[in-house]
Amino acid sequence: MSMSTSSLTSSTSSTSPAGSSADVVVVGAGIVGAAVAWRAARAGLRVTVLDPAPGDGATHAAAGMLAPVSETWFGEEPAVRLGLAGQAAWPAFAAELAAELGAETGADAGLRDTGTLVVAYDADDVAQLRRWLALHSRWSLKSGELALAEARRREPLLGPRVSGAAWVPGDHVADPRATHTALMSALGAHRAAAVVPRAAVRLVRDGRGAVVGVTDDAGETRRAGAVVLATGWRAADLVADLPVAVPVRPVRGQTLRLDAGPDVAPTHMVRGLVQGRPVYVVPRAPGTGRGPGTTADHREIVVGATSEEGPDDRRATAGGVFALLRDARALLPGLDESALVEATLRARPGTPDNLPLVGPTEVPGLHLAAGHHRNGVLLAPITADAVVAGLEGGDVPPALAVADPRRFRPAPVPVHDTPNHPARSLT
Ligand code: GLY
Repeated sequence: MSMSTSSLTSSTSSTSPAGSSADVVVVGAGIVGAAVAWRAARAGLRVTVLDPAPGDGATHAAAGMLAPVSETWFGEEPAVRLGLAGQAAWPAFAAELAAELGAETGADAGLRDTGTLVVAYDADDVAQLRRWLALHSRWSLKSGELALAEARRREPLLGPRVSGAAWVPGDHVADPRATHTALMSALGAHRAAAVVPRAAVRLVRDGRGAVVGVTDDAGETRRAGAVVLATGWRAADLVADLPVAVPVRPVRGQTLRLDAGPDVAPTHMVRGLVQGRPVYVVPRAPGTGRGPGTTADHREIVVGATSEEGPDDRRATAGGVFALLRDARALLPGLDESALVEATLRARPGTPDNLPLVGPTEVPGLHLAAGHHRNGVLLAPITADAVVAGLEGGDVPPALAVADPRRFRPAPVPVHDTPNHPARSLT
């Protein structure tokens, strides 16, 4: 698809009244916005990033599973195909980020090729696991049932009640917080990139209706050839008056961070079904533990996640924490001995079809990198590449065709009941 109407080629000369100018303003610096900004700067674009609290949205809660096969669900084949493309983009993305920052910084995306062990707690969960493996087989996804003895050999800490297991060899994990820190360092080092700790409050449009910048909460207008909205579940906030649909809603997710020593920490990602409830346990590398008494052989373990329709009030709940611990310790009882370091709630950006909104919109100059729901970390690299392709007027990679924001149509303009324009009767 051609992006010529919203490409930067004809609009890079915009200059703000305050003298700052950019080819692109990226609004939102979670892992998706930061990845877009970094890739844009590497592509030679002048980038301004606006975010009052970079990385403090869904990125802060995310476990970082790069696990499209383990997260496959019935009826969602387009999502798994997109997820596999996103997964394939990660190794080069992480390597380029590390290379740019230099070995001496120790910056690292925390990418670990662990594979994923999927386990079932009771007989009903085993039946569900087998239905899910049959789905994988129909869609030619790599997974296979494991004998319980083999599952216990790979993960000796599995609890005695676990009744079934499968192995997904290609599903790995990255560390979202470490990746975000690395991206912000890379942006900080780029002469062509500026990160401004301000919120965008309004999009600026020209006489043709094209988006040509944003005004921030200090009242400064930053003009640019294009604006990318990467504000997670808030992505619709700035577009209320525009003829564009951004159907993103908050879906709350609670995650826990544990500090676990080698005797109680699993070494693989473990996803499980416990009496029908999904839970995941994600161990990082040794040395990532934290809190009083941690040592170099401790790991951070992330347990997740709830999924609740509702606002991002940042309040992890007693019920959410209880449910996650109940189900995680049913699979890995040794976790009882770990320290509970953090309970975090953030909202994912959900969309009506569980697919993101990536690329140019109907409004010239307005691009989206939004609506990634459960897959912001998985899809950050491929989203960044696609958005930069769109900004440069090129083709968005075919894998992202399902994420074209223009698949949602804006609501019709309401008909107002005024003397000159009476509303139509419904009868
Ligand atoms: N991708 C995992 C989650 O959203 O909980």
